[in-house]
Amino acid sequence: MKYFIVTYGCQMNVHESEKIAGILEDLGYTECGSREEADIIVFNTCAIREGAEDRVLGNVGNLKRLKKKNKNLIIAVCGCMTQKQKTAEYLMNTFPFIDIVIGTFNLPKLGHYIEAVKKGRQLEILQEGDIDEVLPYKRTSGENAWVNIMQGCNNFCTYCIVPYVKGREKSRKEENILKEIKEIIKEGKYKKITLLGQNVNSYGKDLEPKVSFAKLLKDICALDGDFTLSFMTSHPKDLTDEVIDTIANEDKIEKYIHLPAQSGNNRILKLMNRSYTREKYLDIINKIREKIPNCRITSDFIVGFPTETEEEFNDTYSLVKQVRYDSIFAFMYSPREGTVASKMEGQIPDEIKHKRVNKLLQLEKEIQEEDNKR
Ligand code: SAH
Ligand code: SF4
Ligand code: F3S
Repeated sequence: MKYFIVTYGCQMNVHESEKIAGILEDLGYTECGSREEADIIVFNTCAIREGAEDRVLGNVGNLKRLKKKNKNLIIAVCGCMTQKQKTAEYLMNTFPFIDIVIGTFNLPKLGHYIEAVKKGRQLEILQEGDIDEVLPYKRTSGENAWVNIMQGCNNFCTYCIVPYVKGREKSRKEENILKEIKEIIKEGKYKKITLLGQNVNSYGKDLEPKVSFAKLLKDICALDGDFTLSFMTSHPKDLTDEVIDTIANEDKIEKYIHLPAQSGNNRILKLMNRSYTREKYLDIINKIREKIPNCRITSDFIVGFPTETEEEFNDTYSLVKQVRYDSIFAFMYSPREGTVASKMEGQIPDEIKHKRVNKLLQLEKEIQEEDNKR
């Protein structure tokens, strides 16, 4: 029995797929190199932008012919996109050959759904899950080991679907994280450990007693072993001086921070509910540059947020120019149903979003070329 997993979305989802692989291998499946050979195909989906969902729909639709060839093939769709009841039902109704549609919190029960398929198609969306549940995952990222430290997000940036599909912020217990990392070190296969969370800087605020992210970093660095430690993603509003100092002082921590700004304009930042201003963001950048010389800094930007004027976009442009990032991701704003921004007046036409995103990426290219020359 063979399995094939198709993963969309962020690093956290890549790590979720490692859990899916672990569960399937526990059931006796082995990995294969193509959909054609598989007895079970799992789509681990992303809902962050419309484009991500369109790709899933197209690729799932294409499986009809495989199901015709292999009547026993099981097709499962899980992840952020199917955590939305409406989308889950749409998939079930549109593609009668899909066997299992489950949400983000259902993953530990994947084996159960596969077993139950004999009795009929499975659709279930749980609203909560236990982050510390131990799943038998299979690491797939070479010398890097991903370690989840938290799940969900409380920030509700007005454009973002994540809090709705991943739930509220929940931190894993520090002892469980340290235990997992000790095992990773003992295995001896991994040179790098990357901590994952939508907003790692708010790690531990929900634990009793509270644990700070800086403490977690220090405690991991204190473990014996030869490894580099990295993490993502940092939200500017929660990046404390203590975390910056810890990155500066600990040799094991990679000198790299992904610090998404999203916009360089204060009115847009406020509408996005990002809780910082351009000035505060630049203060943090200056602090990083001062305390961690040669620190690589990268960022995400959204262009064409509702009501964004050309001048306001120019503030984003000038921020990129001023900070001179090592690299950036620039996205065209994509309305996500159920979020606050999707209901705002003044949605920006695609044509303008295209122009702005290209302008930003062109600037990024120029900066990199100059830096390379130097
Ligand atoms: N938790 C991380 C980011 C998660 S999503 C953070 O807060 O930085 C990754 C990136 O996708 C975001 O940084 C944002 O730039 C982009 N993004 C999220 N929602 C989007 C939307 N509706 N349209 C376009 N880009 C979006
Ligand atoms: Fe989305 Fe904002 Fe949470 Fe990041 S911090 S996951 S952008 S709501
Ligand atoms: Fe990640 Fe996409 Fe979900 S970015 S958290 S897989 S919506």
